[in-house]
Amino acid sequence: MPRNTLTALPQPIFNEGSVSPDPTRFKTAHPSDSQLYKEIQKLLTKDVVSFGPSRLPPDGMVALQDVWGAHGPEIIKNIQSAEKIVFHAAGDTGASNEGKYANEVRVCDQLSSDCRTADEANRPVFLFQLGDVVYDFGESRYYYDQFYDPFRNYPAPIFAIPGNHDSFIVPNTPADATPLEIFERNFCATEPVITPEAASLHRTAMTQPGVYFTLDAPFVRIIGLFSNALEDPGVISSQKGKWPTVPDVQLTFLEAQLNLIKKQKYPGSVILAMHHPPFSYAPPKKSGGAGGNHGGSPAMLREIDSICLDAGVYPHVFLSGHAHNYQRFARRIRFRNQQYEVPFIVCGDGGHNVNRMVTGRAGQPPREPYFGADVHYLESKPAVTSTGLILKHYDDMNYGYLRITVDKQKLAIGFHLVNAGRLPQSRIDMVTVDLARHTVTGN
Ligand SMILES: [Fe+2]
Repeated sequence: MPRNTLTALPQPIFNEGSVSPDPTRFKTAHPSDSQLYKEIQKLLTKDVVSFGPSRLPPDGMVALQDVWGAHGPEIIKNIQSAEKIVFHAAGDTGASNEGKYANEVRVCDQLSSDCRTADEANRPVFLFQLGDVVYDFGESRYYYDQFYDPFRNYPAPIFAIPGNHDSFIVPNTPADATPLEIFERNFCATEPVITPEAASLHRTAMTQPGVYFTLDAPFVRIIGLFSNALEDPGVISSQKGKWPTVPDVQLTFLEAQLNLIKKQKYPGSVILAMHHPPFSYAPPKKSGGAGGNHGGSPAMLREIDSICLDAGVYPHVFLSGHAHNYQRFARRIRFRNQQYEVPFIVCGDGGHNVNRMVTGRAGQPPREPYFGADVHYLESKPAVTSTGLILKHYDDMNYGYLRITVDKQKLAIGFHLVNAGRLPQSRIDMVTVDLARHTVTGN
């Protein structure tokens, strides 16, 4: 008898009752999408998608406590006793074929294992997925293999902002089967329901108010934006008519969120997350070799910077995915007569793929960037006063994820390798931001 899949449950469920062995095969065959890619190549540079407004008003927020259901008060109490919150972030987790599946499963296993083995004070309390949950274009039939099954042992809520692969509409897709429709069913439900995509598993749909939202947790607010369906660049608005089908609701939303932070004199950490990275490494022109497979999004960043300037509030850190590697930039800006250093982090190596930062070209070997490289040339007509942009650290050989710890004074972001082998620990990079000063300590 088929399960009554869309009946609301009294409580959210995050994982199965017991840890089960890793899946080794897809439940649903996933034929190669290479022919489809050839057919839609041009559309990937121009077909943006529309989307509906959030269910909440622009200054509304999702409280972490509510998302945890009956366990919410206990989770918040533990965080308050520990005087810090710990959580994960990762991008581009979906494996689009069985050859990649083991990579995704390993990432998910390490994330799940971290939750299960950490002591209470250090236990991650959610995962923020930075987009591209299901390849190639968010089909309902692939959610089980690429999302529900690999994350079946992750014992905490999973939030997500859609990536281009969760939103681009392949021509002739029925209106009730568009990727965003499916994404919203699984991440933006009004109540904790088990969706058809979860099949026999028990994780209930996430109850975000929309494809853009703010998560309000102790010590931290994460403002998540949907950067739309193009391969490049990220688009969060109509850009004054350039993308007429994209609504401007996210500009109003961001403005309202930053104004709320100012009005409340919010003392905690503010993270801005979007799938497409504002900065992604490319070598200087004429230096030989070409950049990675994704560029930055200067127009999107200009819009964000302008809103921040008007509000007088700047995020402590930017998080993105999309480029399948790890990149950490230090952007120095002059903001309200103070010098800020803001980490811009790309973490898009969560299981789908790992891409090199540079590629060779016409007989020239690729020239790898070095830690500390001056990359100010990646800034393009910034709307704030930028005083420097440095590539602080990167990894383009391994899968990985972010483990983030926030307390009253500081925000610490560690990049962890999956399958760290003989390394003494999985973390290979760490940046710490002083919340009051917007300065970076450590490295
Ligand atoms: Fe992407």
